Amino acid sequence: MSSAPLYSGKVRDIYAVGDDRLAMVTSDRISAFDVVMAESIPDKGRVLTAMTAFWSGQLASVAPSHLLSTDLADLPEDLQEPGWEGRVMLCHRAEMLPIECIVRGYLTGSAWKEYRSSGTMHGTELPAGLLESAQLPEPVFTPSTKAEVGDHDENISFAAAVDLVGAEVAAAARDISLELYRRGAEWAAERGILIADTKFELGMVDGELTVCDEVLTPDSSRFWPADQWTPGSTPPSFDKQPVRDHLDGLDWDKAPPPPSLPPEVVDATSARYIEGYERISGRRFADWPGAGT
Ligand SMILES: Nc1ncnc2c1ncn2[C@@H]1O[C@H](COP(=O)(O)OP(=O)(O)O)[C@@H](O)[C@H]1O
Ligand SMILES: [Mg+2]
Repeated sequence: MSSAPLYSGKVRDIYAVGDDRLAMVTSDRISAFDVVMAESIPDKGRVLTAMTAFWSGQLASVAPSHLLSTDLADLPEDLQEPGWEGRVMLCHRAEMLPIECIVRGYLTGSAWKEYRSSGTMHGTELPAGLLESAQLPEPVFTPSTKAEVGDHDENISFAAAVDLVGAEVAAAARDISLELYRRGAEWAAERGILIADTKFELGMVDGELTVCDEVLTPDSSRFWPADQWTPGSTPPSFDKQPVRDHLDGLDWDKAPPPPSLPPEVVDATSARYIEGYERISGRRFADWPGAGT
């Protein structure tokens, strides 16, 4: 057995590898309405890992990535847990920026709520008359704070991000995030998936601003089926919709404990994650290490 993780998040367990590297292990846990479900979604962690690996290659020219390997054999022997095959990322350990680098291409979620009540997005005025889920005139960098465990992230202005990380780093983080989003969203849209918004996490590795964490996955982003996007309403989620539809049909107050998910909902959700990966990457998930095990 490996030693205790440095950190256990809602979805990932993180282990130190020496002083300057990390092993990030992505579980099959799923949350909905901010509550982690009791059931896991088979292969979800491998899909998120495969997708991050795909994008890291695809977008390598934008900025350096923290990702070193997804090969279990590259880990120290005491961390080579067979169950981690395909779900582990060996990375540079970064000093993370204390902001979340969100990019929004469409008006939804907390940005739509703010716009509806004040006509602004993260404090900046937007054109009048935009509909829910409308495509924004251009993608916007809309950072947030990184909340401590249990708290919610708070949307902030670009000026507030400058106060947190300095003008130079904030501008570089914005430029990298916008470029990653523009390229990724264009690529996905050509394959029938709209990436409405997404969250990048950047950090410093050897003094260089580096793309960390997961990249353009359905967990860090809102994926919408392009053919079901109609401004004026919120499209279904490409990946989590079977879970949401099931939960919406129940009399549940959205507080833990979660209701149980029937096997057909679990299977449908797993299939959606896999389909999203295959459409975007053009690769077969069956070829990914550990797939289906
Ligand atoms: N290369 C890295 N170096 C250090 N920390 C990282 C790196 N990549 C990601 N992280 C951090 O690891 C954690 C990822 O675990 P996750 O389960 O997604 O946590 P959370 O619930 O906070 O999103 C995040 O806190 C993220 O900021
Ligand atoms: Mg996370």
